[in-house]
Order: sequence, then structure tokens, then C-alpha cells
Amino acid sequence: MSADLLGRIAGASDLAALESERVHALGKQGAITQLLKSLGGMSPEQRQEEGPRIHGLRERVTSAIAERKAALEAEALERRLATETLDMTLPAEPRLQGSVHPVSQVMDELAEIFADLGFSVATGPEIEDDWHNFTALNIPESHPARAMHDTFYFPEDEGGERKMLLRTHTSPVQIRTMVKEKPPIYIIAPGRTYRSDSDATHTPMFHQVEGLVIDRGIHLGHLKWTLETFLKAFFERDDIVLRLRPSYFPFTEPSVEVDVGYSIEKGKRVIGGSEGWMEVLGSGMVHPKVIAACGLDPEEWQGFAFGCGIDRLAMLKYGMDDLRAFFDGDLRWLRHYGFSA
Ligand code: PHE
Repeated sequence: MSADLLGRIAGASDLAALESERVHALGKQGAITQLLKSLGGMSPEQRQEEGPRIHGLRERVTSAIAERKAALEAEALERRLATETLDMTLPAEPRLQGSVHPVSQVMDELAEIFADLGFSVATGPEIEDDWHNFTALNIPESHPARAMHDTFYFPEDEGGERKMLLRTHTSPVQIRTMVKEKPPIYIIAPGRTYRSDSDATHTPMFHQVEGLVIDRGIHLGHLKWTLETFLKAFFERDDIVLRLRPSYFPFTEPSVEVDVGYSIEKGKRVIGGSEGWMEVLGSGMVHPKVIAACGLDPEEWQGFAFGCGIDRLAMLKYGMDDLRAFFDGDLRWLRHYGFSA
């Protein structure tokens, strides 16, 4: 009996077979369980003799099963290690390498330049409501500037109260920041903007970066210095010349449009010098009405804001001539103009 059981256990070829041997010996109907049950019907003398023998047998079988189990598990592990080895000498399969889109690259550059000037990056939703995109920016309903923006509106919901739209500029982030944060505020807000407009220099989706400073005693000189410092750093030239032209935006007073001087080098326009002028951004001193609409006291807080097309900046800096190529997703163009990560 003992030799037979131990032999079967030793011969179990895998864990499943071993499990059925365990049931065969120690299960409810198992051989050893039966022997243990038979002790009940024996005379005391017989039980004294058989008891230790049967218990001894159970111990030997139990430890034989544990030993066999450990051996089988070790074998399985060996087999796995043998088949799963990595061949470190195999050449790697070539993988497609992505690149950073020029627009993302410019956004990163802007964040870095402005971080050095103490600005942090703020964001806002691309699906905006009328109040943040227009009303709080001193563009009331019926203001002609609304028509100028070629806005993409969403269909009105049942109540028709909150008209939703795709933001037409990054200026609503000014409002969101002033409502949420206590001055002093020094932020830029780069992101996607939308207008129903399309030709070689306009796409329905484009990118802007907003700048906003709200502090005490801020004046136009701070705006001019900030823009000059930013543009010199961005175009990596010291001979950047700015021209501020009076302009009109409902949310700034006074408003100025900023041109950058360019010169012709090897038949191409390059930023720097003053042979000609190119408009790069709109800006001005934040209108007191806008500051008040955000719950701040315009007597205490003043500031400036600017909004600048990022795609334009990228085209000027990296010499690209068709804005639409930015969003075509043509891999050849992306490989040519993309930046390694
Ligand atoms: N939001 C304006 C535009 O899209 C630009 C701007 C921003 C002008 C901030 C002044 C101040 O044209």
C-alpha cells in the first residue's frame, strides 16, 4: 500500500496528475482517509497498533506530495526560463520616429521665454459661452465686433439662455483668470481659436497666444518693454524694431497694433531692421470696464493685454509660406519642419 501510493506520487508527470494522486490518497474517498475511518471499528488493542502506522503513512504521503509539487514547479520554471530568454544580439526593428509639430514647438518656446519674465501659463475651454468670449470683454450684444469675428455658434439649447460658441480668440482666458485669481496676474494663454474663414493665410482653426498683466501702476511702457523683450528672444535677434500704431479693440483702451520691422536678406524677408513693417499682434491697456466686469476695482488695478497669432509667428521664424500646410498632416512636410522631441 505505502510503496504503491508513494510510487504513484513520484510518477505524477505534471501538477494536474499530482493533484489527482492527492485526491486518490487523501481526498474524502481517498485510500488513507478510508484507513483512518476504519480505526473506529477496531478493538482498542488493534487501534493502538494500527493507529500510528496509518498516521505515519499519511505523513509520508503528505510530504511526498509536497516534495513532488516543489520539483514539478521548479521544472516548469526551468522550462519557461529556457524558452523565454531574450536574445540581446538581435538587431532592433526600425520604428517610426515622431516629431514635435512646429506649432507645439513655438508654444513651448513662448512658455519658456515668458517664464523667464515671471509669467505662468493659463488655459481655458475652446467651447466658450457668449459672456466670456464677448460680453465681459466689453463687446455687448449688437456690437459690430461680433460680426467681425465670423463666429461658429452651436445650435441654441431649449432655454436658449447660454449661447455656446467656439472661442474666436484667446481673450476669454483673460476673463477666466481675472474672475478666478487675485492680482497681481502675469499669464500667457496659448491655444486653439476658431473663425469661419479660409484662404492661404487663414484657416478656420488657428492658434493664438494671449498675454495678460494686472498689477498696480502698470502703463503702456511696461507693455512695450515686454513685447520687445519677447520678440527679441523669440526671433533670437537684437535688432528687432517695434512700431506701435493706434488701433481699436473694445476690451483695451488705448489699443495698439504692433508691427515688427523686417529687412531683406538674400532676397528673403527676415525679421529685424526696418526696411518694411509687418503686423504681428494686437494689444493695449485693459479697459476699466473689463476689469470691473471681473469683479476687480479698476481704480486699484491696471494692466495690459496682447493677442498674437502663433501660426504667423512660426511661419515668420521658420520660413514657411502656406498656413494650410500646418494642418494638412502631410508626413513629408512634418518630417521636414518637425522638431525632434
Ligand atoms: N483678441 C484680439 C484678436 O483676436 C487680440 C487682442 C488681444 C487685442 C488682447 C488686444 C488685447 O484680434
